Amino acid sequence: MNTEIITITPGEDLAEALRRPAEILRAGGLVAFPTETVYGLGANAFEPEASARIYAAKGRPSDNPLIIHIAEVSQLSLVTDAVPEAALRLAKAFWPGPLTMILPRKETVPKRTTGGLDTVAVRLPSHPVARALIRESGCLIAAPSANLSGRPSPTTAAHVREDMDGRIDCIVDGGPVSIGLESTIVDLTEEKPLILRPGYITKEALMDVLSDVDYDPNLSSETASGPPKAPGMRYRHYAPKGEMWVVEGAAEAVVAEIASRTAADAAAGLHPGVLATEETAGRYPTGTVIAVGTRADEESIARQLFGALRAMDAAGADRIYAESFDTPRIGQAIMNRLLKAAGHQVIRL
Ligand code: TXA
Ligand code: MG
Repeated sequence: MNTEIITITPGEDLAEALRRPAEILRAGGLVAFPTETVYGLGANAFEPEASARIYAAKGRPSDNPLIIHIAEVSQLSLVTDAVPEAALRLAKAFWPGPLTMILPRKETVPKRTTGGLDTVAVRLPSHPVARALIRESGCLIAAPSANLSGRPSPTTAAHVREDMDGRIDCIVDGGPVSIGLESTIVDLTEEKPLILRPGYITKEALMDVLSDVDYDPNLSSETASGPPKAPGMRYRHYAPKGEMWVVEGAAEAVVAEIASRTAADAAAGLHPGVLATEETAGRYPTGTVIAVGTRADEESIARQLFGALRAMDAAGADRIYAESFDTPRIGQAIMNRLLKAAGHQVIRL
């Protein structure tokens, strides 16, 4: 399959630029497009065959449901019959934006799209290209992240191309995304709202709107009694090809430990890699060292994390050591992705 690339230039008329991708979506094809969080791999959410193509292109297990993207709050009624009051409050506070809500599934939403579940995930993204594509196509767009299953989510069109070239009909290149972590997922189908995936919108921010919200206890290995509720959080994810560890402890001790391990790896003929920040990157003499943003700006770390994991693969790193990025606001979301990438291997000093 030839994958068409459509590049959006700033100031361009979006309706005009998106005419072809919109047509592809209406015809049941696959279009990757930018959102503010990560690039999505879109298809018509109400066309089971189109959803099935997403699973095939990603190599995604068929029980892992897709998020349906809408362009207006009023379109909630197309995916659910029961819009709880809490959902309207959350929509008012955080939409358009990086928040996904789990609600009861309306009969007419294909089970192919919801991975067989009786609930549905829905999000109203803020990226102008994403919203214009929904409007122009006249479709609600089912879209997971546009990576091959198991790889880091794409934050640029080049990442999407790396994974999807020849597998999908079209990639809309709208430049690098602004957030770099997938949306926060909140489940509103149980008595108490639960965060199924941490993201840019924090628990504290949600608490300002909902009186009560908790993390899914099965997200943390310390409190888990079963698998996480979001099927996608159960799979190995974001993983670079090399074996990876997160090194936790006092800053100086972390630098010394990583420097000594990378020296030993290199001496043994291995290719070590280090995920650091601008503050410490200069202190590692050995291996491929990538500064994932700066600690002075935690959003810079979020934005660059997935790209840095891909860069480790491109460099051929076979042992990767990451500093811990437990930053004040979105550190929870950053560390959730980093620990998954490392298969939960932690070196505690
Ligand atoms: O920021 C994002 O959310 C991006 C952009 C493209 O919108 N999308 C994204 O999709 O991250 P994906 O498919 O990579 O992750 C969706 C997650 C998966 O973990 C999936 O299992 C979970 O949402 N999910 C979807 N529907 C669900 C449902 N009905 N119940 C529980 N979890 C659900
Ligand atoms: Mg994903």
